[in-house]
Amino acid sequence: MNTLDNKRIVLGVSGSIAAYKAPDIVRRLIDLGADVRVIITEGGREFVSELSLQTVSKNKVHNNLWDKDAELAMGHIELAKWADVIIIAPASANTIAKICHGKADDLLSTVILATKAIIMIAPSMNQQMYASKAMNENLRILEARGVVNIEPGSGEQACGDIGEGRLAEPIEIAHQAANLFINNLLIGKKVLITLGGTIEAIDPVRFISNNSSGKMGMALANACVNSGAKVTMIIGSISTQIEKRAKAIFVTSADDMYEAVMDNIENQDLFISCAAVADFKPAKVSQNKIKNNTNLESIILSKNKDILESVCKLNSKPICIGFAAETENLISNATEKLINKKCDAIVVNDVSNREFGLNSDNNEVHFITSKKTEKIDKNSKQIIAEKLINKIVKYFF
Ligand code: CTP
Repeated sequence: MNTLDNKRIVLGVSGSIAAYKAPDIVRRLIDLGADVRVIITEGGREFVSELSLQTVSKNKVHNNLWDKDAELAMGHIELAKWADVIIIAPASANTIAKICHGKADDLLSTVILATKAIIMIAPSMNQQMYASKAMNENLRILEARGVVNIEPGSGEQACGDIGEGRLAEPIEIAHQAANLFINNLLIGKKVLITLGGTIEAIDPVRFISNNSSGKMGMALANACVNSGAKVTMIIGSISTQIEKRAKAIFVTSADDMYEAVMDNIENQDLFISCAAVADFKPAKVSQNKIKNNTNLESIILSKNKDILESVCKLNSKPICIGFAAETENLISNATEKLINKKCDAIVVNDVSNREFGLNSDNNEVHFITSKKTEKIDKNSKQIIAEKLINKIVKYFF
């Protein structure tokens, strides 16, 4: 996994000669794991072909605020909500002035006004324009609003002038976007995370399991690594990409997961129990495949050990964060788990809602401690993971 894995980036391409570099910016962002959609302005279309941008981004390029078909699929408000980051590169003098003054007369400026995403601008223009008082003031206003300025380089420009105003290199733009997600929140800390579902064998070919994809746990592992932690993952059955910067230990059953957790729990600062552990396993595993003509009416089950509860009982336990997959009475059921398992916090999500939860890319959760319950609104699992790490650090480190 990379630092932009699962991040949703809108690249806004405005009218500057440097727009010809936009397909390379798209590629660099995708190389770091991002999902990229492009908005191009009228000016941008003069300098780079939409076909190139569509080919590299593998998505339709958005160019028109009044496109009825686009509004039916991913309209301007959806795009504004979808993005984690909006990067305007190249950002022309005109586009910078428009967003500075809150204009909404084309798709890009409207999306900027309608978004909660982080906004980055990579200015690109003639050195005299870049040095002008108006531009300086506009940039100061935008920076004060939290817009990240990817500063231009200096050198010979397309117009022959020499000075500041050349678009930052595409790789630099991608790395600055990735750096947004890197912090020191967990520097020097060791984190153990369980994730995915467990598989409980009935016979050599059949098993009991669940729908867990491991995406939430993997997003947490990614967020912990980006925060400087040393991460070990105990991974059950998953259907997602693996975070390569963390240590991965693969297990099958709840018993295997219990052993792996206990073997690795010493000296951990934080334990995140994100796995969907099967509560029960077949009491006896048939050595041979159970044949069709067997008179089998039921399978006798026995209870699996509760891994989270066992870790919470350890003498020198780490900070323990559990997850609660619920379909009703979310807060009261999860609070009961917090108390019964004696963990430090529980993250509860509604798995009856198909929009988020098991197997989806999105989630909406409540973070519950003995003192407070806080909601984290619907977002990508990656962003939810980052918000959770922020809360865990705020409360416990
Ligand atoms: N958990 C665990 N070991 C188990 C069962 C659950 O470590 N044998 C952990 C999960 O990883 C999660 C928390 O306990 O962090 C709650 O899991 P969940 O499946 O929501 O609840 P259960 O405790 O299994 O209770 P129920 O199925 O009745 O809701």
